[in-house]
Amino acid sequence: MTTNAPPAPAAFPPHLQAPGTDTGPWEPLLDAAKLPPGSMRRITRGELDVLLAHTPAGVVAVADRCPHMSAPLSIGTLDGCVVACPLHSGRFDLASGDPVQMPTTGGLWPDGTYEPVWCPPDREPRPDPPGIKADARRLTRIRRLRYYPVRVVDGVIEVAVPS
Ligand code: FES
Repeated sequence: MTTNAPPAPAAFPPHLQAPGTDTGPWEPLLDAAKLPPGSMRRITRGELDVLLAHTPAGVVAVADRCPHMSAPLSIGTLDGCVVACPLHSGRFDLASGDPVQMPTTGGLWPDGTYEPVWCPPDREPRPDPPGIKADARRLTRIRRLRYYPVRVVDGVIEVAVPS
């Protein structure tokens, strides 16, 4: 059954709300009709790039920067609540804010646990050639997603942006 009801904002973990959005102004970003279920859009306001995603849990707004190395998630893919980054294939759960797949570069999970460079399951892992770039990959820690509060007013998606 289809419905014309506006999409609902998704709930998100309160401790992952982006700093400065408690009192930030509400910015109208997009007609809700332009964000059908399963879609993502990048909306830019000044220096802020916002990822809007219409997930099964509702509409999510986060910075359009991968928690790994800041690539635009909006040109990745959305599968349910999980967005896949186009750069190193990291996957992130937009409902929980958690990474669900380590980027192919390897590195640190949010809790600091190290994971090596990805290799196909049928091959022996190859050590990353030593050097400063390998060190950078090894020491890059995935951050947690930070959420901007969302509301839908008269069919328009509004987001509380950092003040
Ligand atoms: S920048 Fe997104 S997985 Fe590396």
